[in-house]
Amino acid sequence: MAYFISLLLVVTAAAVIGTARGEDPLTVGFTPVRLTESQFVVQKPFNVPLNERYEFAGGVRRMWVYSTDKPISSTHRGGARTEIKINEIYRSGVWQFEGEVYVPAGTTGASVMQIFGAAPAQQATTLMLHVYDGNLTFYHDLRRVLAENIYDRWIRLNVIHDVADRSIVVYVDGDERLRYRGPGSSSAPHYFKFGVYKQSHHQPSYLMESRWRNVAVFTKP
Ligand SMILES: *[C@@H]1O[C@H](CO)[C@@H](O)[C@H](O)[C@H]1NC(C)=O
Repeated sequence: MAYFISLLLVVTAAAVIGTARGEDPLTVGFTPVRLTESQFVVQKPFNVPLNERYEFAGGVRRMWVYSTDKPISSTHRGGARTEIKINEIYRSGVWQFEGEVYVPAGTTGASVMQIFGAAPAQQATTLMLHVYDGNLTFYHDLRRVLAENIYDRWIRLNVIHDVADRSIVVYVDGDERLRYRGPGSSSAPHYFKFGVYKQSHHQPSYLMESRWRNVAVFTKP
């Protein structure tokens, strides 16, 4: 009897785990990358304390920045941002970023997610996802919309980067919304970034914010 009950428990547990896994078929075949908290490197305006641009509470990382903010160091030439660099550098293989993002209404003209690195260095990134008036777009191309009306709700992003193939595929809530061939050679060092980074193409808002939870990185050869 005890045997049957424990067997039943094992079968039930397996079914529950199977269902949970089944909700994320995009990561099947990938290995989760173990990330330490020190690999979540926050870049923020150099002249303000961290807690004035970043909060990590209840599993949610909240980042915000003002359009008039200073760059990340006194010598850095980039624009205002509060962004996390996931310090897991890759040059080969297939890599996947997963995370849920919430952009409060009002934030516009900001990059919220990037694949850093491109070679030759004509540009710094292989992918940028921007937000304009509630639409999530491919860079600042307002016609290439990956998701509409994303304000004030959680959406799940999966970004798969096959380095050798230079292919990038982006899924929103499990649906493929973008597939393209990235720039340059395959040998550049890459890493994922997320947060808010002011973009100047279309009138950025004064305050830009994004919140993130369940951020994970996966890989396969
Ligand atoms: C958002 O994207 C849709 C689809 O491309 C477009 O029709 C709409 O005008 C865009 N909204 C804004 C506010 O840009």
